[in-house]
Amino acid sequence: MATIIAPSILSADFANLAAEVQKVTDAGAEYIHVDVMDGTFVPEITIGAGVVKCLRKYTDAVLDVHLMVEHPETQIESFAKAGADIITFHVEATRHPHRVIQKIHEFGCKAGVALNPGTSLSAVEELIEDADMILIMTVNPGYGGQKFIEAMLGKIHMLYHMVEEMETECDIQVDGGINAATSLDVREAGANVLVAGSAIYNASDVARAIKDIRGEEIIHHHDDEDDL
Ligand code: DX5
Ligand code: ZN
Repeated sequence: MATIIAPSILSADFANLAAEVQKVTDAGAEYIHVDVMDGTFVPEITIGAGVVKCLRKYTDAVLDVHLMVEHPETQIESFAKAGADIITFHVEATRHPHRVIQKIHEFGCKAGVALNPGTSLSAVEELIEDADMILIMTVNPGYGGQKFIEAMLGKIHMLYHMVEEMETECDIQVDGGINAATSLDVREAGANVLVAGSAIYNASDVARAIKDIRGEEIIHHHDDEDDL
């Protein structure tokens, strides 16, 4: 499966969002990952549906909205109407995750279900069939620039096998601490949608950073004689 790159605008300059979005789509990114935080599910407050509505006018990229909010069911309609393509909510934030998936679909969006690092895959097992994407958080949500949690690699791989065995279509997204080095491991484990904030927006060459995360490394062919 081809790898999809989803730059997180959490690490972008919020005063120049349209340009920051164009910068990464010009460099080949397929999705724009929008981190919505409510100050309750996670400590910070970030972006609301109004910002998504404004961004929609400036880009044709897939708007991938990551809701880190309590009671996500109350936010679906406004984000869908604002122009979100994918709406992902946390399984920890609602008692009725299956109903939230149904609601996202009713409003014409793809539905993603996110799991915190401390949440077992069993919390989403019965949802895989209906969800379009499962998001394995590889850091605890709330901030950009945190360190990748290695123990999540096994979880990604287990999910990959679950999806395979169910013979269903479900994207596997990872979010947190993804850079050129960790991207190699998560791709190998089975993830196909890679979110990256600081590794892309803090890079001096954004296009190079995206290629590195995608795994388009320049292969250096060593001449055998040189190694002697
Ligand atoms: C974390 C957010 C991430 C964040 C990732 O709560 O969900 O999308 O922007 O940032 P990096 O790639 O810097 O870890
Ligand atoms: Zn995110």
